[in-house]
Amino acid sequence: MTIGIIGFGTMGSGIAQAAAKAGCTVHAFDIDKKFLKTNYEKLKKEIHTSIEKGKLTSKLGEEILSRIHPKNSLKDLAECSIIIEAVVENIQAKGELFKELDLLTDKKTILASNTSSISITSIASHTKNPQRVIGLHFFNPAQIMKLVEVVKGFHTSEEIVNTSIEFAKSLGKTPVVCKDTPGFIVNRVARPFYGEALRLLGEGVATVEEIDRIVKLEGGFKMGPFELMDLIGIDVNLAVTQSVYEQYFHEPRYRPHIIQKKMVESNQLGRKTEKGFYEY
Ligand SMILES: NC(=O)c1ccc[n+]([C@@H]2O[C@H](COP(=O)([O-])OP(=O)(O)OC[C@H]3O[C@@H](n4cnc5c(N)ncnc54)[C@H](O)[C@@H]3O)[C@@H](O)[C@H]2O)c1
Repeated sequence: MTIGIIGFGTMGSGIAQAAAKAGCTVHAFDIDKKFLKTNYEKLKKEIHTSIEKGKLTSKLGEEILSRIHPKNSLKDLAECSIIIEAVVENIQAKGELFKELDLLTDKKTILASNTSSISITSIASHTKNPQRVIGLHFFNPAQIMKLVEVVKGFHTSEEIVNTSIEFAKSLGKTPVVCKDTPGFIVNRVARPFYGEALRLLGEGVATVEEIDRIVKLEGGFKMGPFELMDLIGIDVNLAVTQSVYEQYFHEPRYRPHIIQKKMVESNQLGRKTEKGFYEY
């Protein structure tokens, strides 16, 4: 099966790896050609490191790389069976993209969004064929994490839901079907995890390191909220919080924190800029 990935950032490159590992041919496009090239080189390096560490056989590692093809134009993805969008968390950007994809592809092509929070129904409203638009929400790092939320929009057909479930399973993932609600399941549950940690920090109750340590030690979490925000990207996390907050009509529980905004303004985006709550 040939799949298309749009947006070759943190998530796009992880989903590409997961699909290529399962035997899919992957055509990847990013609006920023320089970024596409840099991230493809980064992915190559990651695969070679995994081979050196014995996490991947060199045969499988080379096969994964040979199946991922960076592409120059969106048109190069027209023949893919499933196209997964992983661009910026912004309804306007996603809407415009889906409008273009709808015109470019056959009606049988599944158009999936990896959005963390945006309404699939509203993304689909930019197309003439909303029955083939679905949410396939992978988690970070997508090449490792098992869960995939399969989000059924108002018009998504049962056939597309079932094919998407089978696709996720073929990647070795655990799909969970959920309703099209802001933040779906995981990002809804996770909002207070980040929000309360930021409030504690803002009030000077405890430091970043203390909060992360306590949550891991006493809560049994693998990562603390600040470590996780650095992994996700402070910009992405802020965009998701804003999106959930707005979609719930400014419900105070979901209000973003000024600390996040300041960090985005000063380009402290976490691991991807080598500085967030921690230095990398
Ligand atoms: N980071 C996470 O932990 C995480 C987890 C699950 C889901 N998501 C979701 O996945 C999506 C992508 O997040 P990310 O963290 O990979 O972001 P990212 O910033 O790492 O990458 C986004 C990429 O999309 C590209 N892009 C932007 N507009 C585009 C367009 N119109 N066409 C083609 N490419 C375009 C950018 O150049 C960039 O390379 C978002 O919707 C986000 O909410 C993120």
